[in-house]
Amino acid sequence: MKIESFAYKNGNLEWQGASIRQLAAEFGTPLYVYSEAAILDRIARLRSAFDSRKAGVYYSVKANSNLSVLRIISGSGCGADIVSGGELFRCLKAGLTPDKIVFSGVGKSADEIRYAITTGILFLSVESRAELEAISKIAQELGKTARISVRVNPDVDPKTHPYISTGLKENKFGISHKEVVSIYKLAASLPGIEPTGLGFHIGSQITELSAFKEAGQIAVKLVNEVRAAGVQLHHLDVGGGLGIRYAEEQAPAPEEYVKQIIDSVGLPELELMFDPGRSIVGNAGILIARMLYLKGAEHADKSVEKANDSRTESGKTFFICDAGMNDLIRPSLYEAYHHVLSDPERPLSGFGDLVGPVCESGDFFAKDRSLPAFQAGDLVVLASAGAYGFTMASNYNSRPRPAEVLIRSNGQAEVIRKREIFEDLIRGE
Ligand code: LLP
Repeated sequence: MKIESFAYKNGNLEWQGASIRQLAAEFGTPLYVYSEAAILDRIARLRSAFDSRKAGVYYSVKANSNLSVLRIISGSGCGADIVSGGELFRCLKAGLTPDKIVFSGVGKSADEIRYAITTGILFLSVESRAELEAISKIAQELGKTARISVRVNPDVDPKTHPYISTGLKENKFGISHKEVVSIYKLAASLPGIEPTGLGFHIGSQITELSAFKEAGQIAVKLVNEVRAAGVQLHHLDVGGGLGIRYAEEQAPAPEEYVKQIIDSVGLPELELMFDPGRSIVGNAGILIARMLYLKGAEHADKSVEKANDSRTESGKTFFICDAGMNDLIRPSLYEAYHHVLSDPERPLSGFGDLVGPVCESGDFFAKDRSLPAFQAGDLVVLASAGAYGFTMASNYNSRPRPAEVLIRSNGQAEVIRKREIFEDLIRGE
């Protein structure tokens, strides 16, 4: 399979024009590497489809919240979609202005609501009646008005992994479409509350545009009903969720996705707000690790068929590298696929599990997969790791988190987060 932006030159791997070997030599492993040019390209592609439509990108910070990444996003004129006080803090540090920040999430604490209202963000997305009442109370205490948008649960199946599906009625997110009008009536009557828009977010890594179309149509119907009830709405937040290509899946082009939403919504006077995370940074990042040991190596260099034949109790090869599930948890948590490449180039005749050093059998990056015929000391590259990679990393097994490096548009690589050291592990204890 050909993965964008990778190329072998004289047997050594390059990504976005940078040598994997040099990056590993200079910054060590495990290492996250991101590309500024790739991030900017994805933003430009989304925006190019806006045409003359009133619309904006509000990057979903949870996908990758490194300050330097946020500065790129903010510098390109995008806003941010946040889900915690910590993300608000990061956004402000990165120079995002409050009027470009929206706050989602089902469980905002009183402190977070206070922080958001005091900062003067664009709006808080309301996910329950109880939360609406809490926001009203806090706004009154502060003597301020909180702008809100109701997140509707449209009960639409995004056909993605159940853990990242959010728009079905059995999911905890949003307010049932059946209750939306009554919630707006309540919002309009509560002190300290100004309803300004409506929104939805149905899930993540969605590769079928029909789900967005369905959700868009439901949202339009609701906007009209809310307006008919006398509440004016100025924007529709269509969430994030556009899938990317990890393996063989055909991810829709960003332009096609934006067009689909614009077409299904209509209502040109409404500002459309897009909150993509993964589709901006997912393919703009990789994780580099180093191969430590091969275990059961006598089985490693076989054709896939032969390996399948011999996969009895003893016939398995484990390729053990120096990155683990604490660095990139997606395969363990969602059985997510990340493409694996080697440096130097090796024939695709390896077969087995690519695993990390963490003391869990769930610590794997690839299972029973045809892999490069790695040798100890080789570099291992996990593709498409720019989204939900570092942000979901932990210190499990007391492993310091990796460094993050950014390849600037001019080709220069710079550290944007230092590798953690042992002292970082015990800070505050
Ligand atoms: N807006 C809201 C309200 C969200 O909850 C999310 C993601 C997004 C926008 C951005 O969605 P995206 O465009 O990135 O799909 N850790 C999982 C993904 C969790 C997504 C949670 N919500 C993973 O690694 O696949």
